[in-house]
Amino acid sequence: MTVEQTAGELYLPSVEIVNSAHINNRDVLANMATQDLVKFWEEQAKEFDWFSPWDKVLDDSNPPFYKWFTGATTNIVYNCLDRHVASWRRNKLALLWEGENGEQRTYSYHALNREVCMFANVLRSMGVKKGDRVTIYMGRIPELPIAMLACAKVGAVHSVIYGGFSVEAIHGRIDDSQSNVIITCDGGFMNGKTIELKAIVDEALKRCATVEHVIVVRRTGHEVSMESGRDYWYHDLMGLPVARSTGGGSRCETEEMDAEDPLFLLYTSGTTGKPKAILHTHGGYMVGVGTTLKWVFDLKEEDRYWCTADPGWITGHSYIVYGPLLLGATSFMYEGAPTFPYPNRWWSLVERYGINVFYTAPTAIRGLMRFGDAWPNRHDLSSLRLLGSVGEPINPEAWRWYYEVIGKSRCPIMDTWWQTETGMFMITPLPETPLKPGSATRAFPGVDADIYDENGRPVAPGEEGYLVLKSPWPAMLRTIYKDPERYVSQYWSRFPGVYFTGDSARKDKDGYFWIIGRVDDVIKVSGYRLGTAEIESALVSHPSVAEAAAIGMPHEIKGHAIHAYVMLRSGVEPGEDFENELKQYVAHELGPIAKPEKITVVPQLPKTRSGKIMRRVLKARAQGLPEGDLSTLEE
Ligand code: PRX
Repeated sequence: MTVEQTAGELYLPSVEIVNSAHINNRDVLANMATQDLVKFWEEQAKEFDWFSPWDKVLDDSNPPFYKWFTGATTNIVYNCLDRHVASWRRNKLALLWEGENGEQRTYSYHALNREVCMFANVLRSMGVKKGDRVTIYMGRIPELPIAMLACAKVGAVHSVIYGGFSVEAIHGRIDDSQSNVIITCDGGFMNGKTIELKAIVDEALKRCATVEHVIVVRRTGHEVSMESGRDYWYHDLMGLPVARSTGGGSRCETEEMDAEDPLFLLYTSGTTGKPKAILHTHGGYMVGVGTTLKWVFDLKEEDRYWCTADPGWITGHSYIVYGPLLLGATSFMYEGAPTFPYPNRWWSLVERYGINVFYTAPTAIRGLMRFGDAWPNRHDLSSLRLLGSVGEPINPEAWRWYYEVIGKSRCPIMDTWWQTETGMFMITPLPETPLKPGSATRAFPGVDADIYDENGRPVAPGEEGYLVLKSPWPAMLRTIYKDPERYVSQYWSRFPGVYFTGDSARKDKDGYFWIIGRVDDVIKVSGYRLGTAEIESALVSHPSVAEAAAIGMPHEIKGHAIHAYVMLRSGVEPGEDFENELKQYVAHELGPIAKPEKITVVPQLPKTRSGKIMRRVLKARAQGLPEGDLSTLEE
């Protein structure tokens, strides 16, 4: 896709959409923010409740360790729940949920708050306190947001691990965060099958020393082993008087947090084998996420909103759990696969639940598109008003299908560019923005995005370069947990004083951004972010493998798929099914999402003279493209 291919193709939102939107003139806000960034965010912060006010909106005395709303105290959960249950929203639906097996649950703000309070009391009774890290590893069930909110309520820092990760990935993340409590479930339902979760936790815990308690939610009911003195059933704990500890009711004091106190760690892949824990805080994250969701997806009180992501990724943290609850919105969550039992499952859910705003990923669109128009056309999708996309560039063909077949050419698509690190949307349309298929359009008001060349100079319109962010924003990561040097070197050193996103992009003459993809060793598989080094270290932990290289190859549905090249240890003769065995091994160690599509055994890997694997050479060879500069290639 190039800018030229789609030049001239402009999709204008309808007058009704623009007139009814919270924001119908981006430029007014963008100008306000340009004139006074601090005042701009201060105004937005006033939409939230604080226990005590800030001394300073932005403390930029020690860049890149920016602080927001210093001196203020709050708790994001106070803003997500407490303030709504004290208002008319007490009876409003907060969460609707459907399991893959058709089971349904609904929570009003009152009911959700009650469950969160009870579970927070359970956590407190186990000794969990402000600052403690708690790991959560679950399927897409309501207890996942409940667990996150309960942690935040008592001031603990949650670290959610996506359910598609496995033994070694869990071990590494628990070890790094030093969590002593894990919240999990017996298993989950996906594609009509039962997925093991507790058994994977058990195996991971054999490798970790810190964990004292494991709390297990019963979801599938299949048999799992429970270690006495360590493992507890969630429903047993919630039935104990301790869950209703205060005054016999189910109340629980919300911990007063400093705006800069950590809210969560979220591990993401980078350029080394060790995943890094991105740290977000209560105050700034709340302001950034709440404001962006309100303006971009334009949620109204009466709306039903559905973000199909997994809460185990940043999209789920910001825009399933915290964002919608901050706004007092009603959101829907679905447990299973989009194609189960048939490829109309999602569209039938849109119809049955009357979804107004629907947010998903290009890979899902491409996957569902191949089943044809008849599946969505069986359903009444007229409730939809706005659509969204995230995670990777959306190809114009998928964009048009989404726009025409799902949105019936009425619903603007909010193609939101952002990252685990940014916490909130950064480059995105608003409902008023004229759209170009494949472009995330323009920077959110207050976000200063640009494209630099190698030397840190802005490139000319249409030229490719590195996407950077030139000023701080409230939901920005504060650091990499326990590794501030890596925070500085990874994000702020390539172009001193400027945040480097790791993406390449172009900006057209209208100032629209076109994201091209990662320029580091990160592979986006179905929108999920995986590090080549992580995959390689899983491969070399297999007893037969000496060295490995992983690359991302273009894939029609997944965007990219993992191809791996392995060199075997001397004397090892690969068996007939060796490649399959190795694929299964990676899935077991790292997770099914990291399973390579293709593994090739090679006698040698292309390396530089200093011994670094030249993945770009492998990639060029695999795609039949020119291999580029080979002057550093070892003989
Ligand atoms: O490469 C960009 C891509 O996803 C990366 C961030 O991945 P992650 O931290 O897992 O967060 C994904 C969900 C926010 C980015 O560096 N990306 C994300 N959104 C888009 C995108 N690429 C193009 N268009 C997008 N809308």
